[in-house]
Parts: sequence; structure tokens; C-alpha cells
Amino acid sequence: MAKTLGTYFETVRASRAWRSIFRSGRGGTRLHDVLAIQQNVFLHLFSAKARRRALDFSVTWYLGALTFGSFLILVITGILLMLYYHPSVPQAYADMKDLQFVVSSGVFLRNLHRWSAHAMVFLVFAHMFRVFYRGAYRPPREFNWAIGVVLLLLTLLLSYTGYLLPWDQLSYWAVTVGSNIASAVPVFGSKIRFLMLGGNLVNANALLRFYVLHCMILPLTALAFIAIHFWRIRKDGGLYAGAPPKPEAK
Ligand code: HEM
Repeated sequence: MAKTLGTYFETVRASRAWRSIFRSGRGGTRLHDVLAIQQNVFLHLFSAKARRRALDFSVTWYLGALTFGSFLILVITGILLMLYYHPSVPQAYADMKDLQFVVSSGVFLRNLHRWSAHAMVFLVFAHMFRVFYRGAYRPPREFNWAIGVVLLLLTLLLSYTGYLLPWDQLSYWAVTVGSNIASAVPVFGSKIRFLMLGGNLVNANALLRFYVLHCMILPLTALAFIAIHFWRIRKDGGLYAGAPPKPEAK
């Protein structure tokens, strides 16, 4: 069975259609491996070579990759949730109840989204502490640290904007408190609150704004910054694997 699958895969890889997409061919040499990465629009963000030591679990604890994994789960489950959700008052609340009691596997879908969101917030902080603990923020990686700070803020904003969408008491009061805190900013406070809510009250306008931010603006911005973050790791010479070992005394 495995042999049949292998042969089938080889036939596909040798086909003209496959070769028109993956131009590096199937030479099986180091050069072909490098070309396969460099010539793929998604893979070229990553480095074609890596120091073996940098791939050890103890170097990164895979926290950045796990953060990205939870982001991907959130995107997929978020798109599925959008199929059942209307960002209008009071329909939004009814949709959440339908997800709970009517939609097949709705509770699972909602909880997967919710728990992945909690996980992402935890993981992004853990990843940031790991980078700090190892000193991986130092030159030449200081720009990637700054990109990371933007990603941290985007993660928190994604969490916050998602909070209003169920349109229940918890959401309503959380956003009331949050927008009141924003209004305490000197000089521009009331303007910021107005901009956030699309008015002076937490109502249908606010729900629509939070929905567009949560489902479009923030995820797309995060995706763009994640792409820069990954590309930048390559440009900064790969992952920081610690100081090079000292030469042994003779
Ligand atoms: C959506 C959020 C984020 C994602 C998906 C993400 C993803 C990653 C991945 C996959 C790596 C390489 C592997 C690893 O270190 O685990 C990495 C490295 C790095 N990240 Fe992040 N990251 C995020 C947020 C942050 C934050 C908040 C900071 C700091 C404020 C940060 C700073 C860095 C730096 C400086 C590196 C290079 C570390 C090195 O060379 O060892 N990242 N990130």
C-alpha cells in the first residue's frame, strides 16, 4: 500500500503540471532542497539553511511556532464561526445560543476558537519572555523585537475585539469598562472612545466596528506582520542559538 502511494506521488511529482509550479525539480541534492525553498512564495520567508543547534527544542521551546499554530487554528475556526454569525443586535446573541444548542458541533467549534485565543495570548507572552531570557532581542535582532511588540499588541487587540461579539452581559460590560478606560487618555480620550464605538454608547455601531476589526482588519494586519517577522529571522542570520562555544584550552 505504502509503495503504491509512493509510486503515485512520484508520478505526480514528475508531471508537467507539478514541475510548472515547483520549478526546482526533484534532484534530491542539497542545491535542489535550497531551490525548493527559495522558489516557493510561502517557503521563501524561511531560511533554506539552519544551524542544527538552533532547531533543538531547548533553544526556542518551539514557542513562536506554537503561537503561529494557535493563530492558524483561530483563523480556520474563525472563518467557520462567521458562517453562523450576524454582527447585528440582538441577532448576535441568538446566533451564539444557536451555536450552543442547534448547530452540529457548534459548542466544539466555539470552544476551540475560545481556548485557542487564550492559548495564543499565553504563548505570545511565553515566546516574548523566552526571547528576552536568551538575549535574542540584541543586535542584529532588535528590529524583529519591535515587530514582535506590534504582534503582541495585535494579539491583545484581537482578543479584546472578539470579546464583544457574543453580545452578552460579560461582553457588554467589558467593552463599556474598556472604552471608559480609553476615554481617560488626556486630551484625546473622548475622541478615541468615539472612534472605538462609532458613537458614545456601546450599541449596534460598536458591535459592527468590533466585528470588522476582529474579522478583517486585525487578522490581515497580523498576517502581514507575521510574514515580516519570519522573513526577518532569515535576514538576521537565522535563530539565535546562544553564544558560540569557547575554544578548548590546550
Ligand atoms: C503573533 C505573535 C508571534 C508569532 C506568531 C511569532 C513567531 C515567531 C517564530 C516562529 C519565531 C522563530 C522560532 C521561535 O523563536 O520560537 C520567532 C522568533 C522571534 N520572535 Fe516572535 N512571534 C510572535 C511574537 C513576538 C513577540 C511579542 C516578540 C517580542 C516582543 C517576538 C520577538 C521575536 C524575536 C526577537 C525572534 C528571533 C529570536 C531568535 O533569533 O532566537 N515575537 N517568532
